[in-house]
Amino acid sequence: MRVLSGIQPTGNLHLGNYLGAIRNWVRMQDEMDADSQCFFFLADMHSITVHEGREQRIRNVRDMAAALVAAGIDPDRSVLFNQARVPAHAELCWLLNGTARIGWLNRMTQFKDKVGKDREGASIGLFVYPVLQAADILVYNATHVPVGEDQKQHLELARDIATKFNTDFGVELFTLPDPIIPRESARIMSFRDGTAKMSKSDPSDMSRINLTDDDDAIMQKVKKAKTDPEPLPETAEGLAGRPEANNLVGIYATLAGRTADAVCAEFAGKGFGAFKPALGELLVETLRPIRSRFMELRTDDAALDAILEKGAARASAAAEPTLRAAYDAMGLMR
Ligand code: ADP
Ligand code: TRP
Repeated sequence: MRVLSGIQPTGNLHLGNYLGAIRNWVRMQDEMDADSQCFFFLADMHSITVHEGREQRIRNVRDMAAALVAAGIDPDRSVLFNQARVPAHAELCWLLNGTARIGWLNRMTQFKDKVGKDREGASIGLFVYPVLQAADILVYNATHVPVGEDQKQHLELARDIATKFNTDFGVELFTLPDPIIPRESARIMSFRDGTAKMSKSDPSDMSRINLTDDDDAIMQKVKKAKTDPEPLPETAEGLAGRPEANNLVGIYATLAGRTADAVCAEFAGKGFGAFKPALGELLVETLRPIRSRFMELRTDDAALDAILEKGAARASAAAEPTLRAAYDAMGLMR
């Protein structure tokens, strides 16, 4: 088993990033046997599709690395690196640009969502983003790729590109990767609006729990979180049509490792005045150790850079044979 996943290094990490992505990686790493390997990387080459100043981009990469280590990614056991330090990704992307078809990319829903009406004004980078993602995966012959539901289409594209390359050049070079999508894919919603995703770009800081929030801030945000006047229902079914209540119960259940039904059973008939302090405590207990490691790690840029450099060297060594074979299959002398 070769597990690989990437995350765009975006600033201002929040509970949604942790429960929706990072925590799943830690779980996969911890479940690996001795013959398997995990590759986790910061997709900074993908992040050029969002305009960012130089200093901010550097900060974002180091912060995301600190967050991953703080959350439990062990850079000795897993290969942790940033994409820009491993040129094999960009090189293979260029080779695969000869294989990927415009028609395939035209069908990508994430591209359509991101460009909206201004297709002509979108960058080429945004259009070929899924080809770089395919290169990320194929260059390591990854077998399992943990991602959110929204990335399923990109994984299918990676399989299509792999199949066409193998066929066109008569090789059995690329492995077809399988997406690993968590069954109850945690989608954490805003504390101000239960129908909107918790996001770093929400102008209201009260809408999200940041990884940097202290215990008091967490308790305050939970206390002020939007709810409805009804008490908690007997079962999770009773949460239908109550997005805010559903979100808070969902977060509690995820953190406690219990089902939403079990949480409802415990608090049935009680109001949010009783539920919120319990949720706040659980959040504080979960996030406190991660926050303190995160705050400590991000004060030492040299140590973070050393982790990423070491990871990049291991990643480059793992990518090299496949990259070389791809050049060779195409008759490109290197
Ligand atoms: P944001 O929405 O804050 O801009 P990103 O799009 O940068 O977050 O997401 C980074 C990672 O965190 C992705 O893997 C994404 O699936 C996950 N993620 C972000 N927000 C949430 C959320 N509210 N619930 C679950 N996962 C999330
Ligand atoms: N596109 C992914 C996202 O937005 C991030 C990503 C880049 C990725 N390359 C990858 C995920 C390779 C898995 C494998 O979440």
